[in-house]
Amino acid sequence: MLLNLTILPGDGIGPEVTEQAVLVLHATTDAFGHELRLQRKLIGGAALAAANDPLPADTVQACLSSSAVLLGAVGSPAYDHNPSHLRPEAGLLRLRRELGAFANLRPAVFFPALEDCSPLRAELVRGTDIMIVRELLGGAYFGTPRGISETSPSGAPGSRVAVNTMRYSEQEIERIARVAFDLAMKRRRKVLSVDKANVLECSRLWREVVTRVAKDYSEVKLSHQYVDSAAMLLVQRPADFDVLLTENMFGDILSDQAGGVVGSLGLLASASIGGPVGLYEPVHGSAPDIAGKGIANPLGAILSAAMLLRHSFQLEQEAVCIETSVSSALDEGFRTADLLRTPAGEQAALSTAEMGHRVVKAVVDSTATTSQRKERSA
Ligand code: IPM
Ligand code: MN
Repeated sequence: MLLNLTILPGDGIGPEVTEQAVLVLHATTDAFGHELRLQRKLIGGAALAAANDPLPADTVQACLSSSAVLLGAVGSPAYDHNPSHLRPEAGLLRLRRELGAFANLRPAVFFPALEDCSPLRAELVRGTDIMIVRELLGGAYFGTPRGISETSPSGAPGSRVAVNTMRYSEQEIERIARVAFDLAMKRRRKVLSVDKANVLECSRLWREVVTRVAKDYSEVKLSHQYVDSAAMLLVQRPADFDVLLTENMFGDILSDQAGGVVGSLGLLASASIGGPVGLYEPVHGSAPDIAGKGIANPLGAILSAAMLLRHSFQLEQEAVCIETSVSSALDEGFRTADLLRTPAGEQAALSTAEMGHRVVKAVVDSTATTSQRKERSA
């Protein structure tokens, strides 16, 4: 198969982790006899620096004409005081919209090798396997009107007003709910819909529509939880969650929390799908504090590449190969700094590139031992 990808390394640790994900993709596609074609483009702060636009037209064009997009991260403190549309994040939000990527899948899976990384007791976190389904194109992220008033009606200093609008249509809720229920059918058949229906109209409509959609999925058990309570349950009983369905901002917050629960946000991958071209990115951000040091965890990016193979190309075996390789690198005790809770010196942290190399090696070893490789080259 020919895999035409656009790679958007972005800002901060984005380029470092993306490079490792690309190496793993090369190893995997080589082993399974696929051809990988890549083009690299700018987004976020990197694009602002080069073209004063966080999402240049040329980047959009490249993404729309490829089969999938792999992104590192966007965000840089250099642009903290820019107007909204000239911030790195604006590039990512516009890209999600251009790609019609309304469904953001964020699996939070506990790796048995990482028992001592979770801040929770092992018996609580063991077995955790959550699929967060975050609505990605609605809510307060995109609703209008929005903005900060230039001056207040009175003109007095210190009295400006800021407005954001949380907005959802029934159709937007229905389509993301269907994604969640379809995923639940292939999993443990539980959907927890998270909202704030005791306060927000958006959430009341959300609950109503999700309940209606559930009627088409009689085998799936639907429950509802307010977001504050869901946040508590996520640390108290993470292993009870299967599919967690929620709106844009709640999903942003709860997915970082889920990263903490399973041991490190650096492990979490995501797929943003629903439109013609899928977008894949680690859940962690650009982490400017550690950028350029070569110590970032590349596993979130690598696992995003696995999701890319699964969701954009239906290459399930190849995706599983990457996931198994990540597990076995962790089983062998390889750790980046974020996964080390032991006192310094007791265990040496691997660099981003060393960790990537461990996964590449596991991919090569596991595919070389099967007959696949020889069969394909014969
Ligand atoms: C994420 C990020 C983004 C978001 C930012 C960078 C716009 O935090 O993907 O979770 O809020 O969606
Ligand atoms: Mn986030």
